[in-house]
Amino acid sequence: MIQLRDLRDDDVDRLYRWRREPAVDRWMFSGPPLEFEAHQRWFEQFRADEHRHGWVIERKDEPCGVMFLTKISNVHQHGQWGWYIGEASARGRGVGRAAQALGLDRVFSDFALQKVWSEVIADNDPALKALAATGFRREGYIRRHMFKGGQFHDVVLFGILAEEWQERRKSVMKDLQASGLVRPA
Ligand SMILES: CC(C)(COP(=O)(O)OP(=O)(O)OC[C@H]1O[C@@H](n2cnc3c(N)ncnc32)[C@H](O)[C@@H]1OP(=O)(O)O)[C@@H](O)C(=O)NCCC(=O)NCCS
Repeated sequence: MIQLRDLRDDDVDRLYRWRREPAVDRWMFSGPPLEFEAHQRWFEQFRADEHRHGWVIERKDEPCGVMFLTKISNVHQHGQWGWYIGEASARGRGVGRAAQALGLDRVFSDFALQKVWSEVIADNDPALKALAATGFRREGYIRRHMFKGGQFHDVVLFGILAEEWQERRKSVMKDLQASGLVRPA
């Protein structure tokens, strides 16, 4: 079963380890943290910031990844979505798809948002598929928008509105429950 919990103080070490994994860093817009102290400062600032929120993704009660809602805007009532599975053994097993559905439930119930958006490097197939499976719509394509690994990459913009998630959530959750990924309601 997949579940989410709020970030805790002792997540600082695992986030440092996960974020430096090449398989994770490859798809991130920024570079990995080099010094632990800098990462620790970022972690503290993140948790103190009312415009950002994070959840740890647990699989079989073990932490395996993290999900972030950032750039939370009270004016526009939207926020940006980002997530990664840090434990290699948990990738490609439906964890990302399930975590995203659980995350959308939290976001639209706990924050007064009308939209969640995300930007993804154009050849990140697992992320593109997971976003589409949960009901995110492709809203734009930005050419050569970021530089990573010695080259420029195109970026795809995705978004989902609160009412779109409400329409979609029952069937998404039903599928996830049938696959044993999410606890029955
Ligand atoms: C992107 C990520 C969060 C997706 O989570 P995941 O648990 O690995 O993905 P899921 O198992 O839920 O699979 C989602 C979809 O991608 C597909 N997929 C999974 N691994 C894949 C791979 N290596 N290659 C191609 N497709 C893959 C799955 O089949 C599924 O598609 P489907 O619904 O059509 O069957 C995870 O792979 C990850 O952390 N990657 C590295 C960091 C990253 O890219 N973060 C997102 C930045 S926007």
